[in-house]
Amino acid sequence: MYPRLVYDLTKLRQNLDAVSETVHQGDCSMMVVTKGVCADARIVELLISHPGVDYLADSRVKNLKTYAGKARVAGKKTVLLRLPMLCEVADVVRYADLSFNSELATIRALSEAATEADVVHNILLMIDLGDLREGIFFRDEEQIFQAVSEILAMKHIHLQGVGVNLTCYGAIIPKNDNLSQLVEIAKKIEARFGIELQMVSGGNSSSIYLLGENEALKERQLPAGINNLRLGESFLLGNDTAYETKLPGTCSDTMLLEAQIVELKEKPSLPIGEPGVDAFGQKPVYEDRGVIRRAILAIGKQDAEPGSMTPIDPGIDILGASSDHLIVDVTRSKTEYKVGDVLSFTLGYGGMLKAATSPYVEKGYR
Ligand SMILES: Cc1ncc(COP(=O)(O)O)c(C=O)c1O
Repeated sequence: MYPRLVYDLTKLRQNLDAVSETVHQGDCSMMVVTKGVCADARIVELLISHPGVDYLADSRVKNLKTYAGKARVAGKKTVLLRLPMLCEVADVVRYADLSFNSELATIRALSEAATEADVVHNILLMIDLGDLREGIFFRDEEQIFQAVSEILAMKHIHLQGVGVNLTCYGAIIPKNDNLSQLVEIAKKIEARFGIELQMVSGGNSSSIYLLGENEALKERQLPAGINNLRLGESFLLGNDTAYETKLPGTCSDTMLLEAQIVELKEKPSLPIGEPGVDAFGQKPVYEDRGVIRRAILAIGKQDAEPGSMTPIDPGIDILGASSDHLIVDVTRSKTEYKVGDVLSFTLGYGGMLKAATSPYVEKGYR
């Protein structure tokens, strides 16, 4: 059935081998992030059986719940990447071996849940180095120390370390100078409280280039002291997300989205009549291409992100979409398409996320 998202497990394995080698040669442990593929069971299996994967991480407890048991049996730890909601702390201590936190109110609630469950829950204290998403602001050292002081008094909470997230929201690029500030904060915490932090987690797929494996940077720039990276997109699509380059040894066509043509007709390229707004409240802008061969595919914005899809056939242009229809111009194609034919697309991060999460998109494997 279509639409269908087909994962190439061999290529995903190749990407995993490549990023794992880079990260471990850089003396870091590796968390692999499963949310991009909605914790797909076959991909999770691949991660669980791979010796280079130390942690499986996700932003949703629901996803962790699907694989925590199997991961633990295989000796892998599970991680909740997004700050826990107060309403889910009981599940967090149950399904996550480690969670990322920045709010004392939440850590107190985790402490109560962990006490109740009679477990010790590990946390990473998130520091915001300027990307302005989660974390205690790095210039507010007293707030950091106060938080650490209170955490250390909690019997059922263990402070495993500190971490930062960059690029996803503020688009700030990790560099030696900003990440060095995280290492400095970790050292100050250790000195002040006489403790050892096991983990200093230096970011996501935008940090991997600092290990010196890409074209732009020939030597390691990741500061000593950073000992963990968390990788989603670099594993899934082979992307260095700092400078939008390809990581060596990886492929980007690890998954293809396939959709079927339900209408194919010659029509003008400009709509006729008074223009208002489209189904999403936007005023569309059209290019006059004259009369074109337009195909409608049975997939839409509910399941796909047109701006994050690239047709495999170079003769196809995506014109736009409504919630259930994707409209493409096939005029330049060398293929004589007909109703029932299936078009394939490689995906960017947004396109992958939408398709992987949609219950209307079948999942397949090769
Ligand atoms: C805290 C955190 N770490 C790591 C990641 C993985 O990011 P990326 O897919 O860019 O590697 C994400 C997002 O998925 C995240 O929110």
